[in-house]
Amino acid sequence: MTDPDIGNRMIKVDHAGEHGAICIYSGQLFMARLFVPGMVAELQEFLSHERRHREVFRAELQRRGYRRCRSYWLCGLGGLVLGLITGVCGRKAIVATTVAVESVVLRHLAHQLHTLRDIDPQALAAIASIVEEEQHHHDHSAAQIDVGDPWFRGLTPVVTAWTEAVIWMGMRS
Ligand SMILES: [Fe+2]
Ligand SMILES: [Fe+2]
Repeated sequence: MTDPDIGNRMIKVDHAGEHGAICIYSGQLFMARLFVPGMVAELQEFLSHERRHREVFRAELQRRGYRRCRSYWLCGLGGLVLGLITGVCGRKAIVATTVAVESVVLRHLAHQLHTLRDIDPQALAAIASIVEEEQHHHDHSAAQIDVGDPWFRGLTPVVTAWTEAVIWMGMRS
């Protein structure tokens, strides 16, 4: 039996997740302006996409009369700390973070699209409208990564576990 509330909860978690993504890229952008000026333009581009994604889910939550996730502000704070720290560490840390986060996001979105395909067309449409840009964030950053790079090897398990945990908690709150 499918949980009738599943689409609502997925939209709520995605809304908080997009806020987290905005905070990661904002933190990295702040530091990149000081230390990695060559990355400012792409971070600005990614940030503008994440703002649109958050707005898609905010509007969908509002249409459903749902409140934002309880972990919304925590997602933002965690994202900002992660963004500022990796931003200070430079290009390799920034792209490693993006690849790790967006990999989890893409897996998570594919799972949501599969789960919701016959039960919630509006949620499906909202989620489907962001996938291409998330894929672009992932691919653009993955193209700059050397998989043997210590930043990539060190940050990936930590950022992956952290992102999975945030989604897991959000779905249960
Ligand atoms: Fe996003
Ligand atoms: Fe993204």
